Amino acid sequence: MNLENNILEAINNKTSDGFEPFYIYQSKHIIDICNKFQNISYENKSIHFASMANINSQFLGIVKAEGLNIFVNSPLHLEAALKAGFRGNEIIFTSSALSEKAMKSIEKVGVQVNLDSLNQLALWSTLFPGKTVGIRINIGDNVKPYSSHAGAFIGKESRLGFTHDEISQIQDKSIIKGLHLYVGTDVFNIPYFIECYKELIKISAGFPQLEYLNFGGGFGVAENGDQQFDFDEYNHRVTELMHEVSAQKGKSIKLILEPGRIIGGNSGYFVCSVTDIKNRPDRKMAGVNASTVQFSRPLLYPDTANHPVVVIRNGVQIKTEKTQLTTVYGCSTYSRDIFTNNAMLPDLQIGDTIVIGNAGSYCASSYMQFLGFPKPEEYFV
Ligand SMILES: Cc1ncc(COP(=O)(O)O)c(C=O)c1O
Repeated sequence: MNLENNILEAINNKTSDGFEPFYIYQSKHIIDICNKFQNISYENKSIHFASMANINSQFLGIVKAEGLNIFVNSPLHLEAALKAGFRGNEIIFTSSALSEKAMKSIEKVGVQVNLDSLNQLALWSTLFPGKTVGIRINIGDNVKPYSSHAGAFIGKESRLGFTHDEISQIQDKSIIKGLHLYVGTDVFNIPYFIECYKELIKISAGFPQLEYLNFGGGFGVAENGDQQFDFDEYNHRVTELMHEVSAQKGKSIKLILEPGRIIGGNSGYFVCSVTDIKNRPDRKMAGVNASTVQFSRPLLYPDTANHPVVVIRNGVQIKTEKTQLTTVYGCSTYSRDIFTNNAMLPDLQIGDTIVIGNAGSYCASSYMQFLGFPKPEEYFV
C-alpha cells in the first residue's frame, strides 16, 4: 500500500508526540465510489448506503451530498440517519425478528421496510392492515452460495429471508411491493451476482404488485486496493437485466442497491504508534498504543481479516525490501489483542507510526467497549 501525498501529510499533521489512535478518511475516494453507483445507466434506481459499514455523521453527510439514500438495520442507526437529514422515504429498514414496539416506531417514520419471516409479515398485516411492504428472500440452493468470512446469506445454511416454502405460504401477496436479496459480502464475481438476481426475478413472477427489486450489497473491496470491482461490467449486466424485467412485467421496476463496504473501505486508515518492541526468535513483536477493540475486524474475523500495514518514520513512509515477519499487538492483556500476525514490515522502532489500510468500512463502526479503550476520533481530508 502506497500512501498518497495528501493522506500522508494529513496523518503527519495529526501524529505529534503522544497522539491517540484515530481513523482518517479520504473523502474524494468515498465520493468517487458513490458516483460509480449513481452512474449506473438504469434510470429507475435508488442507491442506499448500508450504514452498518460506517455510521459516522460526517461520512453519512458525504454520501448524502452525493445523492445516495440510506439503508439501516436497527432503530439506533435509523435515528442516526434521520439526524443526518435523510427523510423517511429515503431510508430502507431491513432487519429480522422485529418486536411489535420496534415495528410500530419504524412504520411511523415512513421508511421502506423489508420483513424477514411469515410471522413478521402477519404482525405487520395486523398492525397496518392493507399497507404494502417488502420481504427478504432466501433464493435457496439453486445457486451455490458464495462462502465468505461473514457467514451464509442464501441457501439452507442461512437464517435469513423467506424460503421457497415460506413464500408459498404467504396468503396475501398483493401487499408485497418489493423483494430484497443479499447475496454475500466482498464479492467480485459479477456472473455470481447476476445468477442470484435471476433467481430472485424468477421468484418475482408470483408477486403481481411488484414495484422494486432490492439486490442488496456485497461489492468486493481488495485488501490493498489492487483489485478493482468491475463497475463497467456490473453496470452493463445489471442494466440489461433490469430492462428485461421491466419489459417482462410491462412496467418500470425500480432497482435498489445497498452498497456498504465498497463505499468507504479503501478510503479509510487506522493510525496508531509503536510503544513497545519484543524480539522473539521467529519474529518481531510490536506493541502499539491501541487495542483491536478500537479496530475490531481482527477480533471478529481472526483468520480472514487482512489489512495492509505501512510504517511512517520521521514523516516519511518507509519503503524497503528489507522486511521481517512482524506481529502487531494491542496494549491490553487480552491474548487475542493482535492486529496482525503475519505482516512483513521494516525493522520497527518505538515511536514509529503504524497505518492500517482498508479501514473505512466495518472498522470504526464496530468499535467495542470491551477492555476499556476510547472510541477513536475520525477525521476526513
Ligand atoms: C441487507 C444488507 N444489505 C447491504 C449490506 C451491505 O453489504 P456490503 O458491505 O457487503 O456491501 C448488508 C451488510 O451486512 C446487509 O446485511
